[in-house]
This record gives sequence, C-alpha cells and structure tokens, in this order.
Amino acid sequence: MTNKIKYFIGNWKMFGNLSSFKIINEINKFRRKFKKISSRNKVIICVPNTLIYFFQNKLKGKLISLGVQNCHQSKKYGSFTGSVNASMLKKTGAEFIILGHSENRFDGESNKLIKEKIQSSLDVNLNIIFCIGETSKEKNNGKTFSVIKKQIKESIEKKFDINKIIFAYEPVWSVGTNKVPKIDDLKKTIKFIKFVYKKIYKSKKTPRVIYGGSVNSQNIRTFSSISSIDGFLVGRESQSSKKFIDIIKNYYK
Ligand code: PGA
Repeated sequence: MTNKIKYFIGNWKMFGNLSSFKIINEINKFRRKFKKISSRNKVIICVPNTLIYFFQNKLKGKLISLGVQNCHQSKKYGSFTGSVNASMLKKTGAEFIILGHSENRFDGESNKLIKEKIQSSLDVNLNIIFCIGETSKEKNNGKTFSVIKKQIKESIEKKFDINKIIFAYEPVWSVGTNKVPKIDDLKKTIKFIKFVYKKIYKSKKTPRVIYGGSVNSQNIRTFSSISSIDGFLVGRESQSSKKFIDIIKNYYK
C-alpha cells in the first residue's frame, strides 16, 4: 500500500431523497472520528441532481465532497426538455461529475458526446470522473485494451487538465452484476490505462485511475493489494452508510 491519497467515490444512481442525507452524515461522522484513516483518502458522493443543492448547504465544514452523475453537453441554456447542463450543476453546488458511465453509454452516449460533456464540465471547473471499460463480449474477444484506448482517444484531448480528471475503469460486465475482474487482469488494465494516456498525449503526468464494478466490503480486501489503483467507484454499496464505511475500513485493515 502506498501513501498516495485514495478516492472512495459513491455513485448513488437513481436513489435517494432529502432524508437520505443521514447516509452522508454518518459517513461524515466516521471521517471525523477516524482522522488517521481519513487523512489518507478523499470521499466523494455523487447524488441525483435533485439533492445536490440541499446536501451541499447542509454539509458546511464537511469532510465529504459532492458530485452529480451526468449533464447535457450544451454550454448554453436551450430547448432540451428535462436536461441540465454542467454550468447549472456547478452553480447548484456540484464539485465532481461522473461522465461516460456505462448505464448512459447503453442509452446511446457516444465517445464524441462524452467528450463534449467533459469539455463543458471542465469549462465550469467541475472535476470529472470519466468512466471507461469493455463489455463482456469485447472482453471475450480480447478487445479490452483496444476498446479502452479508443474511449480515451475519442473523449479526451491533450489540452484537458489531467489534474481535473479521474479515470474510472468500470468493466461493463462487472457493474451491478457482483462479478469482478481477476486481480492479475485488473492490475494489467490499470497499468495499461496509465500507460496509454501518457503515450497518446505524450504526457509525463500519470493519470489517476480508480476501479468500479461490484465493489463491496469483502472484495475490497483483495483490491487493496493493487497499490496502483487510486481508489474505487462504488455503486449500490454506497447507498448504505454502513456498507460504504466498511469498504473504507476493510481497505486499510
Ligand atoms: P455497482 O455500480 O457498484 O453497483 O456495481 C458501480 C457503478 O455503477 O459505478
């Protein structure tokens, strides 16, 4: 295990109402109590748009950052019924934004569209959690690396500030399925993402790469052996303060 800051990011998906603040409150209390553990990581909870303003205002003096889960690509207001853009979300209190999640790619988001969303989010100084990863078919055909490379190439530009982007490797087949990659495969893929970013953009900076997909308080023990993973994107298990806190505790056990 390294001394580098690790990220524990919750993705609440379509979950929660105003009373769900108690989950954040419990995590906050845990962070206050266990200062030594908390100094080694950053916790970000990505909530539905309906909650960001209320939660952000309640969280004064907080040890948790808040984010949202998607946006419309348009930088300006427009006739896009039901949508909100990055600027609206930033002004409402979001600090982070998940983009390129497989559940949104499944609804038709292309790499090009995701790039527009990344650009408009960076323009308003949001931090990006950029999800990439292969489907099970692509994995079985040995295409994991080429798919990831294409996703990075088509959605990221050299001029994007890499200090504002966290790559989240989320194999589509592991999201919501309780299946996780083999440790050796995961190690190789994390290494590949760091390598391929530097190669494509001729960069000396190594990007942060986190893992997501069926992370729980048991399998986190195995993942903690891979020091090159900069953190975790936790879906369902972040909807319970106990489960989320257990993930953090067990990581450092
Ligand atoms: P999961 O979701 O942890 O429920 O598999 C992960 C995610 O969607 O980011």
